[in-house]
Parts: sequence; structure tokens; C-alpha cells
Amino acid sequence: MQITVLPGDGIGPEVCSQALFVLKEVAAANGLSIETEEHLIGGRAIRETGSPFPQATEAACKASDAVLLGSVGDPEFDHLTPSERPEIGLLKLRKALGGFANLRPAAAVPALIDSSPLRREVFEGTDLLIVRELLGGLYFGQPRGFAADKGEAVNTMRYSAAEVERVARVAFDAARGRRKRLTSVDKANVLETSQLWRKVVDRVAAEYPEVEVEHLFVDACAMHLVTDPTRFDVILTENLFGDILSDEAAVLTGSLGMLASATVGGNVDLYEPVHGSAPDIAGKNIANPLGAIASAAMLLRYTGRCEKAAASIEAAINKVLEEGYRTADLADANSTVVSTEEMGRLVAERALSATEPITASNAA
Ligand code: IPM
Ligand code: MN
Repeated sequence: MQITVLPGDGIGPEVCSQALFVLKEVAAANGLSIETEEHLIGGRAIRETGSPFPQATEAACKASDAVLLGSVGDPEFDHLTPSERPEIGLLKLRKALGGFANLRPAAAVPALIDSSPLRREVFEGTDLLIVRELLGGLYFGQPRGFAADKGEAVNTMRYSAAEVERVARVAFDAARGRRKRLTSVDKANVLETSQLWRKVVDRVAAEYPEVEVEHLFVDACAMHLVTDPTRFDVILTENLFGDILSDEAAVLTGSLGMLASATVGGNVDLYEPVHGSAPDIAGKNIANPLGAIASAAMLLRYTGRCEKAAASIEAAINKVLEEGYRTADLADANSTVVSTEEMGRLVAERALSATEPITASNAA
């Protein structure tokens, strides 16, 4: 597998290097060969090349089997308009790869059940998957921009039926393999795009009679996520709603640093933690790398098609947490606080010790 690694800004390089370390160790133990090449994106790319998504990065990403990204965003560029900021590099990357379905799983982690601000009875057993549409809506709709005198600005929420249909299929397929419940989230009492969304989802639903479908307004969904999160299985929603709801869902796992994501459906799959670049803690070796490491596990599952390797990383993450190791974001009185690097080593060790060495009789 050829993997392009985009460490990006802030804590991106630190968490990415641990994800890569675990990925390489576990891949080797499972007989998968991995080659990696690092490229620039975001603020660092602007500083070094003038562009947040340089051509060399685009070419390398398009020629690879998967892209692993750290995070993008740098306060140095806060004064710029969206079209000049580091984040536009990430949006261009997503568009270039073509993946329109961003899968963001969020589950209550037994070892972290007391690290959430929510009461245990409320969220214990939560296991949901947000399917976020990633290439449409307000993030990409035209027209957009400032009026000449900057006294007015516009963004456009736009969806075609085809765009809704393709992401809905991904969500229904996922629901079919899970608890067969799909919640489509919109704002159909106010937005035309949401009315279209609802109509298309209902049409696709007819092809999946075994999946139970409900429609929920996004404001109500935001509330249910913290009052009754176990009611959800798959949540299907548009780009911006999915962005917001997935940060909220992170509360259920204890820390935003825990959430992983995979973007599928395009030519090259993209794997990135849900968290941002956290500039306030960058370079201190204290960031939580588990979201990035879990994204590497998703890479092994979807692009590498090696469920065993993916599951060994996920089990190792749980094991390390059960043993009481925590990065600073999750630390409490009973835990052993470890650095970003130590966390990466611990997960790799546990994943490898659970993997049988490759022998002639069990080689893939
Ligand atoms: C995310 C991030 C990005 C997004 C930003 C950095 C552009 O918040 O992946 O959730 O809004 O999609
Ligand atoms: Mn976000």
C-alpha cells in the first residue's frame, strides 16, 4: 500500500507520527507492506510554498492508495479570509480525492466512562456512526464570498439529489451491517435543501426495508445526543451539521482527541482524526494521539482490507486505557499520565503482543 502522509499544522505532526508508527508496526506483523511519503498541507504549506495545497501534494495524494492526515489550522493566518486560510487546503484535498462520505464513529469507551461530563446511566453503551456528507452544502456551494465593500457576505447551501443519494447509500449500507437503524438529520422545517434531502433519503430507504428510518431536525438531534445517545445507530447528515454534531458526539468518548474518521466513496480514501490542530498544546508532546491512531486502524480496515489488523489496534487502545494510561486531556487522579509518544508506543506494543507472529501455516 502506498500512503501519503500529511502531518499538517499544530499537533498534527505529533499525532500523525504516532499513528504512522502504530500503522507500520501492525501492518508488518500482519504481512502487509506499506510505503509512505510525507507532503505539505495547510499553514506549513503556505509558509513553505505559498499554497495551502501545493501541486506536489495533490499529485502524491492522487497517486496513492490512501491519505493519512494529522490536522490543519494555524492562528498565524486567523486574519485571512476563508479562501486564503490553511483550512482551504483541507477542503481542496477532500475535493481532489472525491470522497463524499465521512464516517465518524463515536462509542462510549468502558475505561473512560467516568471521564465524560455526562452521567454514566445516560451514555453507557452508546455506539453510533455519523455519516457526514463531505463535498457539498455550505462548505462548497456557490456563490460565496464577501461583497466588494465587505459589508455583506454570502455562503450557499446547495445539494443535488444525486449528491444526497450517494451518501445516503453509504449510510444505509453501514446501517445494514450494524443495528439497522438510521437517523437522517436535517432542518426540513426551514431549508429547501433539507426537504430535498428528506425526499431522497425516503426514496433510498425503500431499497433497504430491513433498516428502520427516522428523520430528526438538527436542533433536536443535538439535544438527544447528550440526553439519550443510545437511541442512535447511524446518523446521516449534511456537511456542516455533521461537523457540529461530531464534535458534540466526542463528549461521549471522553475527549475530542479520541475520535477517528475515514472518508470513502472517491478515488482515494482519506483518514484523519476529527480534532483540530490545537495550537495551544502543539509541540509539547502531550496531545492525545488515539484519534489519529484509530484513524490508522480504519485505514487498515477499509483500504488495507485487513480487519484483523484494524481490530488489533482498536483492542490495544482499549487495553491501554483499561490499564490506566491517559494523555493529559483525559487524565484523572487514578491514571498514569503519558506523553503523545509514550501512548503511541504502548498501543503498538499491546497490538503486537495480541498478534500471532506470521508463520508458514497462517500467512495470508
Ligand atoms: C473537521 C474540521 C474541518 C471541517 C476544518 C478544519 C476545515 O473541523 O474535520 O471536522 O470543518 O471539516
Ligand atoms: Mn470539525
